[in-house]
Amino acid sequence: MHIRPRRLRQSTAMRQLVRETKLQMSDLILPLFVKAGSNIKNEISSMPGHYQLSIDRLAEEVKEIEKTGILGVILFGIPAVKDSEGSEGESANGVVQEAVREIKKISSDLLVITDVCMCEYTDHGHCGVLTPDKEVDNDKTLPHYIAQAVSHAKAGADIVAPSGNMDGMVAAIRNGLDESGFHNIPILSYAVKFASGLYGPFREAAEGAPQFGDRKTYQMDPANRHEALKEASLDVEEGTDMLMVKPASIYLDIISDIKANFPEYPLGAYHVSGEFAMIKAAAEKNLVNEKIVALETLTSIKRAGADFIITYFAKEVSEWLQS
Ligand code: PBG
Ligand code: ZN
Repeated sequence: MHIRPRRLRQSTAMRQLVRETKLQMSDLILPLFVKAGSNIKNEISSMPGHYQLSIDRLAEEVKEIEKTGILGVILFGIPAVKDSEGSEGESANGVVQEAVREIKKISSDLLVITDVCMCEYTDHGHCGVLTPDKEVDNDKTLPHYIAQAVSHAKAGADIVAPSGNMDGMVAAIRNGLDESGFHNIPILSYAVKFASGLYGPFREAAEGAPQFGDRKTYQMDPANRHEALKEASLDVEEGTDMLMVKPASIYLDIISDIKANFPEYPLGAYHVSGEFAMIKAAAEKNLVNEKIVALETLTSIKRAGADFIITYFAKEVSEWLQS
């Protein structure tokens, strides 16, 4: 008698029967970039198929998204004006706030998540306000996060996702939401966010690159695995509803650790702009097959322990899963 694993690999149907991880459209969230102004649909050069869209061009996009089975979108705003305090980020008529209202008019089913951060709204491009010697001031930043999150909730956002990595941001936002009556708005914290070289295309898309320095004093050192558990447990203590790891495909050990240690918390993984752009660029050069590599990557992220994935491939996946 021989144990022969190949017996179960003989046909597509057989392989499907024993597949442990199944990627589905309901696992996926698509990022959208909303730009102040009108009649704007600018393709982002490093991210083929992704655009900066003005509010009046959102409807066509949302209708297309609805047909794909994508569960939701995460919104990033590019304001008309930036200042040192990121004021437009927290304005009731800011670009994300308007976009939330617009999407909610068009679609009642699509989940609308808003990224809560200041880098797109500050003229210096950092994720918080600065001290006189140009360091990011953690505690002076928190009230801005609260104001932004509450304004997103008022506009109708379903979930707020703080991404700025300030200490105490989850507790601050939770208190702020509760005080404003938004007890039912969940927080998806970017609990484990690394200072990665893979955010480059996003910074072009969101026009939010830091104008000096880098984000290493607030985002995590990619070398640190145990610290990821500390970051996640702090966010849990502070009352987050869900956790997230970012980037995803080169941090599968982290995804696995977080799921193992916090199994009761839904875990998202952000397959970021650079991860998307690398696969696209390699496929364009015919070095790899885009469909195979993208599906393999996203399946691996799920296999490692992610419950859902934010990915720029969401629309492509809907075509691939049907074919
Ligand atoms: C803003 C933010 C960033 C991303 C999501 N939210 C950029 C950054 O931290 O510099 C990156 C997403 C991506 O690369 O797709 N804090
Ligand atoms: Zn930021």
